[in-house]
Amino acid sequence: MIKVKNLSKDFPRQKVLTDIDFTAKDGRRVLILGKSGSGKSVFLKCILGLLVPDTGYVEIDGTDVSALMAKPRLKRKLTRVRQNIGYVFQGSALLDSLTVEENIDLALEFKRLKKSERDRIINEKLKLVGLSSKVRRKYPQQLSGGMKKMVAIARAIASEPKYIFYDEPTTGLDPAMVVRITKLIIELSERLDITSLIVTHDMGLARRAGQDVYFLKNYTLSRTKKSTRLEELYE
Ligand SMILES: Nc1ncnc2c1ncn2[C@@H]1O[C@H](COP(=O)(O)OP(=O)(O)OP(=O)(O)O)[C@@H](O)[C@H]1O
Ligand SMILES: [Mg+2]
Repeated sequence: MIKVKNLSKDFPRQKVLTDIDFTAKDGRRVLILGKSGSGKSVFLKCILGLLVPDTGYVEIDGTDVSALMAKPRLKRKLTRVRQNIGYVFQGSALLDSLTVEENIDLALEFKRLKKSERDRIINEKLKLVGLSSKVRRKYPQQLSGGMKKMVAIARAIASEPKYIFYDEPTTGLDPAMVVRITKLIIELSERLDITSLIVTHDMGLARRAGQDVYFLKNYTLSRTKKSTRLEELYE
């Protein structure tokens, strides 16, 4: 379970998050919606520890991650907690100079596995997201936007994390690929029993995949009632 209490994060001359409370229960698909620039990506990064919150508390599976962030000597413990989170970055963020297999392999480096075992995992994860092992030797620029997104998801699940964060997983994709990625997100959460945090502007994805819904507005995050029409939130 992920628990956030009273989290605030500002940048110089820019207020972003104030007193955020949030819970993601195990196995759920949790939506984080909000207008562009409202702070959704900043919020995910604060949970991951890629950005350090100014104040507040982030707990992952009972570990106080915010305390670990504040103490450099506990960096290894923070890294272990982070290894339980797969992150599909806004825009995929594959490394262009590396092949598909090398990109996925990056997520396995810390596991100290034999090359043959890593190869097996790479094939298995590619298959799980619906890609053939033929793409292994390709470079990101040889792939379509949708395929890049699938590789990014394969990389995020490579180490079998308990959590996966998707930041705008369907933006810029054609409608068929949007449907495919939406189905994949639901399927992975059910088959792998993974807890998903999904940041999106895509109302189709939100309606199909969302189980718990939070909306970020005026620097705060509110839990939305089940009966609320998602479009209403933006009015
Ligand atoms: N590292 C940073 N330094 C300074 N300001 C930042 C930084 N990261 C984000 N911001 C600012 O914080 C605000 C929230 O940014 P964020 O990227 O979280 O928005 P978002 O809700 O994810 O938007 P979008 O839907 O367009 O992706 C923006 O005004 C942005 O300019
Ligand atoms: Mg964003």
